[in-house]
Amino acid sequence: MEKKALFPQVGRIIHGGDYNPEQWLDRPDILEEDIRLMKKAGINEATLGVFSWSMLEPREGEFDFTWLKEIVDKLYENGIYTIMATPSGARPAWLDEKYPEARRVNKNGVRELHGIRHNHCMTSPKYRELVRIMDEKLGEMFGNHPGVIMWHISNEFGGECYCDKCVQKFRDYLRQKFDGDIEKLNHAWWNTFWSHNFNNFDQINPPFSHGEFSSMGLSLEWRRFTTINTADFCRAEIETLKKYNPDKPATTNFMTMYDGLDYRVMEKDLDVISWDSYPRYHNDYEKLSDTFYFNAFCHAQMRSMKRDKPFMLMESVPSLVNWHDVNKLKKPGVHKLTCLQAVAMGSDTVQYFQWRKGRGSFEQYHGAVIDHLGSDDTRVFREVADVGETLLKLKDVCGTTLKNRAAIIYDWDTRWAFYEVRAFAHDTIRYDDTCISFYKTMAKLGIECDIVASDSDLSQYEFVIAPQMYMLRNKTSANLKNYVKNGGVLLATYMCGYVDEDQLCYLGGFPGDGLKDVFGVTIEEIDAYYPSERNTVKTDDGEVYTVRDYAEILRDCKARVLATYGGDFYEGSPAITENACGSGHAIYLAARIDETSQEKLIKHCLGLTKTLASECERALPEEVGYFVRCGENNTFEFFLNYSEETKNIGNIGTDMLTGEEISALKPYQVAVVKH
Ligand code: GLA
Ligand code: ZN
Repeated sequence: MEKKALFPQVGRIIHGGDYNPEQWLDRPDILEEDIRLMKKAGINEATLGVFSWSMLEPREGEFDFTWLKEIVDKLYENGIYTIMATPSGARPAWLDEKYPEARRVNKNGVRELHGIRHNHCMTSPKYRELVRIMDEKLGEMFGNHPGVIMWHISNEFGGECYCDKCVQKFRDYLRQKFDGDIEKLNHAWWNTFWSHNFNNFDQINPPFSHGEFSSMGLSLEWRRFTTINTADFCRAEIETLKKYNPDKPATTNFMTMYDGLDYRVMEKDLDVISWDSYPRYHNDYEKLSDTFYFNAFCHAQMRSMKRDKPFMLMESVPSLVNWHDVNKLKKPGVHKLTCLQAVAMGSDTVQYFQWRKGRGSFEQYHGAVIDHLGSDDTRVFREVADVGETLLKLKDVCGTTLKNRAAIIYDWDTRWAFYEVRAFAHDTIRYDDTCISFYKTMAKLGIECDIVASDSDLSQYEFVIAPQMYMLRNKTSANLKNYVKNGGVLLATYMCGYVDEDQLCYLGGFPGDGLKDVFGVTIEEIDAYYPSERNTVKTDDGEVYTVRDYAEILRDCKARVLATYGGDFYEGSPAITENACGSGHAIYLAARIDETSQEKLIKHCLGLTKTLASECERALPEEVGYFVRCGENNTFEFFLNYSEETKNIGNIGTDMLTGEEISALKPYQVAVVKH
């Protein structure tokens, strides 16, 4: 086991998940059976307390922790550790009744009634106080319990609140951000437009649906504020708990591609990144392998927030969910493949929502390890138990991390700016899809990318891709210039560097802030295409790429031209360029091309790097995932067959999972080779 293992006391990969014994306190037989079955399934962790508030404090000030303590102790006696959640994700009725300020006010200015979950005001002093009291109790009771290995803060933070208190806090945030100078804000938001100048900060409201939603600056700052306020709420919970034991790590579970919060801001308060993964396997709109590549992008995004540590797969499901459009079963074998994909990509845990299906209410049909049938003689149970055994074989992987040499830049601010912008063709901006598509192209070449921010330290990378990097925040340009000058290879695409961090357009030609010199080109215009329109790009070595959606017209080209447009009134003008800059190269792709063409261009770029070109010559077949986890003592190579066909991968050595020499992977099979 490596030094950086997340849970040295457990000594192996965590295999567990959400457990809700409070729903079964009247069935001691079932609680007893749970322990037996958990052991049988190789479960070594249970996440307790998510949504347990009404059972921990049924009436204000009346606490009952006995049931929880008994269960934590019992689990621990049986070798099962606890990750303890704080219950702030859902509120008991007494709380909402007595303290309406805990309930959110929605975009229409209406205070919500009691119900559902994940809907408290992040500002409410009263709610914060009640949460603190609850967390003090948890901290006191479990802060030093050897069976409790981590705090799980609330659950899937998200959403926004428009109550008076949040509005006030938003104004304070703006006051601080713009140094108390309303003219600075007016300038940053270009408020002379439509006579939108403010006289003071108290005139500003968040973007209510019946109010000001046309100010891009305001909408962007509201999103930034919502993140900061949520992070602040989360931090307050962590601080309370850490008083009782500063060493107990804390996390909160992030969601798939969630766009409401900038996770890169939130992650700073967390010891470990964890997230909840629920892809739509076996759907009818993409190949199974594409679902795996999509999920891989999400794992990579989470992993890359703390690159030197493993992350956690906090939730996933062994069978089906209840909230997809079509709640489809995972086919036999796919569950194990999903679990091992997480491990291969840097997770030290495989956790489920949920251990046992409840009998009633909203999630009664959501998949679980134990079904309503209540038996261990089920397909799902057997598959979970098989995962349990498999994870045991991989215990030495704990604490190892991926050391990637390529990265993709993906920023929340740019994401948000694209939501607000009135330009291009709204349906085809598809920022997320473009980033995912580049990630996938690289993955198919056998090169795993980290997903980083534009101001992340890029020094470990030989190749960085910046798809549609529309907004250049403060440090972005300097960071990229340095990166290229010091020998990096940077590929940027259309829509690069149009606006600064307030969304004000750069003057004097895009990309702004000095990036024109890095790429040796200036963008003069961008043409948006109707869905059926196509153009071509012709490369200097005779390739023809298809163009769709977007084509920028470049000028003042000082870079080498790799390709020119094949049609339209800009026929013959540069479409792909390459500029030598310092000891590195900056490549600019001015149009949206398809994935096969993307692959060719990327191969060209890899040829400019020190080692990555040879990397992609490993030539694994399509639909085979490949990842390497590195530790101080060993490295582990993972080969994953994302497809329904057998894949020949050549002799890779002895597979840790089967103990056999291996040269082909059966459908869904995973092999791991230790070096
Ligand atoms: C989320 C929540 C869980 C549960 C699952 C269902 O991830 O955190 O409480 O509702 O979804 O898939
Ligand atoms: Zn509020």
